[in-house]
Amino acid sequence: MPISHWPVNKVVNKLFTTDVARFGPSWENITKTKMVKTDITRMCQLLKLSYATVLKERSFSPPLSRCFSSRTEKKNTKPRVLITGSLGQLGTGLAGKLRARYGADNIIMSDIIKAPQQILDAGPYIYADILDFKNLQEIIVNYRIDWLIHFSALLSAIGEDNVPLAMRVNIEGLHNVMELAKQYRLKLFVPSTIGAFGPDSPRNPTPDLCVQRPRTIYGVSKVHAELLGEYYHYKYGLDFRCLRFPGVISGDTAPGGGTTDYAVVIFHEALRTGRFECYLDQDTQLPMMYIEDCLRSLIELMEAPRESLKLRTYNVAAISFTPRELAEAVRKHVPQLEVVYNPDHRQKIADSWPQVFEDKNARKDWGWKHEYGIDELCTAMINVLKPYYS
Ligand SMILES: NC(=O)c1ccc[n+]([C@@H]2O[C@H](COP(=O)([O-])OP(=O)(O)OC[C@H]3O[C@@H](n4cnc5c(N)ncnc54)[C@H](O)[C@@H]3O)[C@@H](O)[C@H]2O)c1
Repeated sequence: MPISHWPVNKVVNKLFTTDVARFGPSWENITKTKMVKTDITRMCQLLKLSYATVLKERSFSPPLSRCFSSRTEKKNTKPRVLITGSLGQLGTGLAGKLRARYGADNIIMSDIIKAPQQILDAGPYIYADILDFKNLQEIIVNYRIDWLIHFSALLSAIGEDNVPLAMRVNIEGLHNVMELAKQYRLKLFVPSTIGAFGPDSPRNPTPDLCVQRPRTIYGVSKVHAELLGEYYHYKYGLDFRCLRFPGVISGDTAPGGGTTDYAVVIFHEALRTGRFECYLDQDTQLPMMYIEDCLRSLIELMEAPRESLKLRTYNVAAISFTPRELAEAVRKHVPQLEVVYNPDHRQKIADSWPQVFEDKNARKDWGWKHEYGIDELCTAMINVLKPYYS
């Protein structure tokens, strides 16, 4: 019988009736027996109580989850956010936007590389290797983290060059953050990608739910992240949120080794030399998004009320174009731009990815709407980069 079901009084009475019968009903015996009986009854009741407490804490029932942060559930409080891999293409811009909303000290940037001085001056920055579970745990406790935005990853092209490392960072690292987010009741954001689809997926358009059989370790690790996050959500109630981003184009930070990087590098080369050698064929159509749209979609998803989310992983889209179409749009700013096409191993990856991304669920459920088309994107990129090259 489990401790929780012990009929304490009955058990203790039975024990002591037997004892009194065995040693005889002398006054001394009866008094001692009564005292011991009271003590044992109290101990049993305490044992029952602490056992029930352990059970309740293990099942994360809200009234007893005192070790879990509940700040994010309260209205009008600012979340404390940890961003892993924050010195990459997406992290620095996101930290700036979140700091403007929630205060500089509430946003903890982290990575495994040395940060430039302007990052150190802008707010908290710490070393955090996502493969080090204990260190991550300490950070979450010491900084009283509410949201975890998990950016650390090896991207598609780099991942293919070092599969064992990509498996460690993208899969083992994800297990660490997932488990910690569960333990400390964090809201967890993990980005996915168009690379989570493969040659067997419908490519034009690619809906939220369809066959996903990617052929890169990057894609495989992202499908794993999507599925594990959804599993933790349904099994443990983890507030897991995930967006599949298209290729992200930004001017202030360098791209991290993905297949869509050409769409960033073309702007630098247009302004620097007026000549660009593209590693993809001119007609390779891929979904893309300007960084401002990308970061806004992330913040809007994180702030969306739980009940509006019908899915835990959403496609978000903006535009789709080919290298030839992008070159034509860039020429409106740099008319002398020359582009040669010299496809390499990345062509095969691009050929297995979506051409047009369908994001109607994001638009319907939490009001997603992109702002940058191809012309707005080109103008923004040229404006950001021009000062560096003139
Ligand atoms: N950039 C895009 O076009 C794009 C598109 C779709 C999805 N995403 C996803 O968004 C996230 C961020 O992308 P990004 O472009 O900023 O990537 P990035 O490659 O520019 O940055 C990744 C960061 O992770 C860090 N990192 C590597 N190993 C680490 C470790 N062991 N511990 C902690 N940090 C480690 C790196 O130092 C780097 O700063 C990634 O998960 C990526 O898959 C990006």
